Amino acid sequence: MELVATPQHPLFAARISGIDIRCPVSPAQCREIVRLMDRYAVCAIGHDGPPTNEEQIAFSVLLGPMDRGRSPKIEGTGIRIPHNEIVDQSNLDQDGVIYEEGDRRLLFKRANRLWHTDMSFRQVRATYSLLSAHVVPSAGGNTEFVDMRAVYDALPESTRSRLDGLVAEHSYWYSRSLGGGPAPTDAERASRPPARHALVHVCPGSGRKSLYIASHISGIVGWREDEACALIDELMAFATQPRFIYSHDWRVGDVVIWDNLATIHRATPFDDTRYRRDMRRTTCRERLVHS
Ligand code: OGA
Ligand code: MN
Repeated sequence: MELVATPQHPLFAARISGIDIRCPVSPAQCREIVRLMDRYAVCAIGHDGPPTNEEQIAFSVLLGPMDRGRSPKIEGTGIRIPHNEIVDQSNLDQDGVIYEEGDRRLLFKRANRLWHTDMSFRQVRATYSLLSAHVVPSAGGNTEFVDMRAVYDALPESTRSRLDGLVAEHSYWYSRSLGGGPAPTDAERASRPPARHALVHVCPGSGRKSLYIASHISGIVGWREDEACALIDELMAFATQPRFIYSHDWRVGDVVIWDNLATIHRATPFDDTRYRRDMRRTTCRERLVHS
């Protein structure tokens, strides 16, 4: 069956029909998805029910080397989903019970409400993320996206030239503290050291230049902290103007794929100590990492 893309925003993002990721996907379909990702950067595929963990993993493997390491644990976290490849993005503990207000695991998760791109705090970055919706709240809990290639294209030339050659440092713990999370323990901090990446890079698939910024950025190499913060804040404010944002309103069974090298995203609030939201993420990487 042909894949058909229906654009969801003037600049990027499409809903794709003609494919069910719960069934075996052919190499030709896979190439078509990659082509659509290079064009749209965010692709949503609807299903009448969510994929199983195994189905999601089997499909994700086709899109690049996967992150299979067990993420370093936030202390006190039990395992609800017993697959190293899946990041549990729900508000549920190991028994499927909603976290209570003040639970530090919930506080860390709320950092997803800051604009970010996944795993920029790792040297080997995330390429695609795939998020599946298993349970969604009746109100709120959309995910918002911005295409940073379109943002780069729209930047004034004077700003673009200021970015030439700049390298940023990205730290997981920096965004957790911005998000209102508690201080990490020494062991937690050591488990996720910072990484450095160019502020502007060329996306391999589309050949388009993109701005690579995230709430994880803790500084710019060789710059004073206040000046670095001011520049990142300025870029973030420009990038997150309403005209650039696509807001995805989740339906159970949706699988949304986004290109972390070309976009930023954030979770939007919902009543997370009252309603369940069960979302599961798989992540592809620039290359295979054994962690
Ligand atoms: C993620 C993420 C946002 C959301 O899974 O990487 O940022 O809305 N999710 O759950
Ligand atoms: Mn994310």
